[in-house]
This record gives sequence, C-alpha cells and structure tokens, in this order.
Amino acid sequence: MKAKPFVKWVGGKGQLIDQLEALLPADFDQWENVTYIEPFVGGGAMLFHMLQTHSNIKSAIINDINADLTTCYTVVKEQPSVLVESLKQIQKEYYALQSEDARREFFMRMRDEFNTKALAPIRNTTLFFFLNRTCFNGLYRVNKAGLFNVPFGRYETPTICDPVTIYADSELLQNVEILTGDYQQTLEYASGNTLFYFDPPYRPLSNTSSFNDYAKEAFNDLAQKRLKNFCDTVEDAGFNFMLSNSDCFNTPLKDRFFEDLYLAYKIERVWASRSVNANPNKRGKLQEILVHNYENTKLKQAV
Ligand SMILES: C[S@@+](CC[C@H](N)C(=O)[O-])C[C@H]1O[C@@H](n2cnc3c(N)ncnc32)[C@H](O)[C@@H]1O
Repeated sequence: MKAKPFVKWVGGKGQLIDQLEALLPADFDQWENVTYIEPFVGGGAMLFHMLQTHSNIKSAIINDINADLTTCYTVVKEQPSVLVESLKQIQKEYYALQSEDARREFFMRMRDEFNTKALAPIRNTTLFFFLNRTCFNGLYRVNKAGLFNVPFGRYETPTICDPVTIYADSELLQNVEILTGDYQQTLEYASGNTLFYFDPPYRPLSNTSSFNDYAKEAFNDLAQKRLKNFCDTVEDAGFNFMLSNSDCFNTPLKDRFFEDLYLAYKIERVWASRSVNANPNKRGKLQEILVHNYENTKLKQAV
C-alpha cells in the first residue's frame, strides 16, 4: 500500500489500523456500493487504509473543520505535480541553509507568512507541509486566534517533499469528496450501505494531559454530547458508525462519561501508543474506546 497520510497529525490512527479493521461490521466485505464517510478526517490514516483495502467502497466523503488541512487534500487531489515542484523548491531552500539560526529564522518567516491567512491554495499547502515537517514534533496546534504556533523543530534535513506519497494519495483521492466545516454536514451524503468513522478530538483524560487544539473551537463535553446525538441520528437513519475516543473509564478516576453516554451502543477497547507527548515517560500504551452501532464485528465473528 503506497497511499498514506501526507501529514503527521496528532491522534493519527496509523498504529491502530489492524484493530480498527477487525472491528468493522462482520459482513462489511459483502456490502455492495459502500459509501464511506470520515467527518473528522485529520491525517486520514483510516481513509487511505479503507480505500486501498475495500474495493466495495464506491464513494467516499471526508470532512474537517480545519480549512488549511482540507485545502491540502484538495491540492493533493487536483494539482499533485504543481505541489511536488513547489515542495521541491522549498526543500532546496531549506537544505541550503548553513546554520541552525538560519533555519530557525527561515522557519519563523514561513510561519508568519502562513499565519497571514491570505495565501493561494498551492502556497498555503506548501507552507502547511513545510511547517508540518520542520516544527517541533511535527504537530499542528493553533492558539485562540487560530494562528499556528508550534515552535521550530531543529531538524536539518527533514523530508519535505515525498512525491511517491503525493502521487499515490492523489490517485486515491480522485473519487473522494472533500468538505470543510462542521461534521454534521456529512449526513446528507449518506445513502444506502454507509459507514461513518468518527475520530473526533479526544476527551482529555485530565485537565493537563491531552492535546485538543486542532482548531480554535474547543471540543468540550458539550461537544462530545452533541456528537452522540448525531450518532443517534445516524443510527435512526439506518446507517452504521464506528467512533474512537479516549478511555476515561480505565483511569484511576473510573470516569463513566462515555459508558453512560454510549450506553445504547457497543463499546470496545483498542490499544494505542501515544507518540505525541512532550514527556517521553508518558509515551506508553493506553487504551482507547471504539463505539459501534452494529451487532457483530469481524473480530467477534472470527472467534
Ligand atoms: C483526532 S483528529 C482526527 C485524527 C485522524 N482521524 C487521523 O487519523 O489522523 C480530530 C479532527 O477533528 C477536527 N475537528 C474538530 N472539530 C470539528 C468539527 N466540529 N467538525 C469537523 N471536524 C472537526 C480537527 O480539525 C481534527 O483534524
């Protein structure tokens, strides 16, 4: 499989793919003309996996509230060669810099330019990729004003341009509809055999622990409840969904927030390793929950 996320994204599902695949509806491979919808697409690890693994997916819809990110998807889809040339150019400029100070100064200049929020799609996407590869830990975080504020990452020769991935992703995105905005707008795209995969900003396990700043709008408990109501609408309309979130129950607080909220559905556990944590001691394995509204999973059927 060649297509994979073109950006590093906090909460990326790369290491969870096998477990998520096992938790798809048991008869998923027998469904015909599937519509696959990812309303919080982020880096899109599950999207690229699904499109390359399940040829019964006839239509796919992705959405994210982060317009800079969805512009990247559109540019990769529609103008891969222009993007590759632009990334080659910025990579060349960066590699030519002789000192860390010069690289830092260049990084800050590109970050300021990105934060003008007034760039054409190709330039915006070029800088998005550049900042993603050169900022600290490759994460994306914005402040309350919606400005990207991750500091310089001190990498000398990061891969800024990866043409193989861009062209493979572009090919795969040809049949994907890309939307920008709140996840609720995806409902109207559902019809027939539809699977939604929700991977929202996770509920923090403690006040300080978790990262939730993908967009300037906070994703608080009220937002988690609104999402549960949307899941009910999806269920009532006869569609299938799976949803990831943090596992607040398996913590010392034994917080039943999700156990109560998703009481009417099935809650499974998957193992995740948290790589994006500034404190290396906290980069261990954690459980996450996977909620679904269908009875049998592939895994359950296999045992
Ligand atoms: C946990 S990330 C998704 C991770 C992703 N599935 C991956 O594999 O990388 C959550 C995403 O939800 C987006 N988001 C936050 N609030 C949203 C909303 N109301 N509607 C749609 N997307 C939203 C964020 O911009 C972020 O990209």
